[in-house]
Amino acid sequence: MIRVGIIGMGFMGGVHFRNWQALDDAQVVAVCDANPITAKKGNIETGSDELNLERVAIFTDVADMLASTELDAVSVALPTHLHKALSIQCLEAGVHVLCEKPMALSVEDCDAMIAAAHSAGKQLMIAQCIRFWPEYAWVKQAVGSGDYGQVLAADFSRLTYAPGWDADSWYSDPSKSGGIALDLHIHDLDFIQYLFGSPAGIRSSVVRFGNGVPGHVATQLDYQNNSAVSATASWMMPEPFGFGMSFRIVFEKAAVSFDGTSLKVCPSAGETFVAEVAEGDGYKAEIEYFAALLSGETNEIKITPEQARESVRMALETTSK
Ligand SMILES: NC(=O)c1ccc[n+]([C@@H]2O[C@H](COP(=O)([O-])OP(=O)(O)OC[C@H]3O[C@@H](n4cnc5c(N)ncnc54)[C@H](O)[C@@H]3O)[C@@H](O)[C@H]2O)c1
Repeated sequence: MIRVGIIGMGFMGGVHFRNWQALDDAQVVAVCDANPITAKKGNIETGSDELNLERVAIFTDVADMLASTELDAVSVALPTHLHKALSIQCLEAGVHVLCEKPMALSVEDCDAMIAAAHSAGKQLMIAQCIRFWPEYAWVKQAVGSGDYGQVLAADFSRLTYAPGWDADSWYSDPSKSGGIALDLHIHDLDFIQYLFGSPAGIRSSVVRFGNGVPGHVATQLDYQNNSAVSATASWMMPEPFGFGMSFRIVFEKAAVSFDGTSLKVCPSAGETFVAEVAEGDGYKAEIEYFAALLSGETNEIKITPEQARESVRMALETTSK
C-alpha cells in the first residue's frame, strides 16, 4: 500500500486526492494546506466539491506533516513558486514526489530539484498531464508506430480567458505563476518535446495585455526536417469562450484532428473514423502511472525530471524577448 500525502488542497489538490483514492494499492493518509479551512474540505470555490477526509490526517504545515506521518509519496499541488522548496523538503525527508506542472519558475530551480531527487534516491515526477491525456497518448503511439508515415505538420492550441486577475490570486502574478508561457503554453510545448525531442530553435510572437504581461503566444518550433510544428496559447479569449484545447496533425498518410471532444482520423486511403481512446482523463492516467512506477509494476519511462526541466526552458524562451 502506497501511503500518500497531498500538499495544497486547492483545485489540483482535489484532483490528485480523488485519483489517488481511486487506486487499490494507494491510500491518502494525510493532506496539508496552509489555509485551515481548505485543508479540512478542499477548495470548493475553485471547483473541488467537498472531499471525504475521514481517516485522513489534516495539517497546515508541511514540516509537521512530514514529521508526524509515515509517507511513501506526496503530490505537490501548490502554487508554482512553491514547487521547488516544498518538493526538495519532501525529497530530503525521504518521500517520492509527484509535483504539478510547471516544474519550477527557472531552469536553475529545476536543477536544484533534480539534484535533491538524486541525492535522496527518490522518484521525482512532474505531472505534465498532457503526455497521459488519452487523445494525445493516441498521437504519441501513432507517431512512434510510423503507421501513417512521418509527421509533416503539427499544430497545437490551448485557448482560454485570463485566470483571476484579482490582486490576491497567485495566478495573476507572473513572479508566482510564471505567466502564460509556464502556466499554459508549457502543456503543448512539453507534448511537442515528447513527440519530437528538443527543437533546434524557437520563435514566438507575443501579444501583451495593457500592463505588459504576455496574454497570447504563438510559437514555431524548428526541427530542421522540413516539418512545420507550432503551438498557440491564449489568455485573451472572452470569458464565455471557456477553455479549449485542440490539435491538427498532418502525417504522410493521414490527417488527424482533435477538437477537444473527439479525435478524428482521416487516412489518405480509407474511411475517416473517430479513434477509440483510453477511458478517463490524463490526471487519472498520470497518477496510475506514478503509482505503478513506485510499486515496480512498470519501468517504462514516460517523463523524466530532465525533460520537464527542458519544457520549462522552452516555455521561458517563448516570452523572453
Ligand atoms: N495539470 C493541470 O492541468 C493543472 C491545472 C491547474 C493547475 N495546475 C497546477 O497546479 C498547481 C496548483 O494550482 P491550483 O489551481 O490547484 O491552485 P489553488 O490556488 O487552487 O491551490 C493551491 C493551494 O495551495 C495552498 N497553499 C499555499 N501555500 C501553501 C503552503 N506553504 N503549504 C501548504 N499549502 C499551501 C493554498 O492555500 C491553496 O489551497 C499549480 O502549479 C498549477 O500550475 C495544473
